[in-house]
Amino acid sequence: MAGSGAGDARISVLYSAEALSARVHELAREIVARMGPRPLIVPILKGSFVFAADLMRALHDAGAAPDMDFLSLSSYGAGRTSRGEVTILRDTEVPIEGRDVLIIDDILESGRTLAFARDLMAARHARTILTCVLLDKPGKLATQLKADFVGFECPDVFVVGYGMDAAHAFRQLPFVGFVEE
Ligand code: IMP
Ligand code: MG
Repeated sequence: MAGSGAGDARISVLYSAEALSARVHELAREIVARMGPRPLIVPILKGSFVFAADLMRALHDAGAAPDMDFLSLSSYGAGRTSRGEVTILRDTEVPIEGRDVLIIDDILESGRTLAFARDLMAARHARTILTCVLLDKPGKLATQLKADFVGFECPDVFVVGYGMDAAHAFRQLPFVGFVEE
């Protein structure tokens, strides 16, 4: 059970703050090795904002100077089951054409969110489009999409924390955990 900030809910830790930090720094080095020092980072809000903020600073440590813009997409609403349709809540602002784009998301589950973002960047003529997710939940993929960079292979539980929510709660937790039923 987590202590402060989680209210009365029982949250089991899946990935500690230390484990997340170590993996984020490894990912940053992999990303720079493959994409060079000037990728355009496009985090998908809201769930990936903490991961993306840590990854930006780790990319600096790895010698990169990335650009950043945000895409806010919705597929889940406030519930825990996907509606299966993705809508743009906030679009990117910087020119995408010719850029080496790295799309960041918190979780790859059905793959619909990431596929939508990838197709959007392709339609705007990005030069290269790679994808990075903190957590990969294998087995539920509705598309054939595989992320280029994956933080952790995640068990099939509903996770919260480190930016991720259950009905808008728990984004503030510094670790990734799951709500005990
Ligand atoms: P997909 O479009 O089915 O791949 O769903 C990915 C999105 O669903 C992620 O960006 C999350 O916002 C959300 N999501 C999927 N699984 C979870 C979870 O266990 N906890 C919180 N959000 C989740
Ligand atoms: Mg999300």
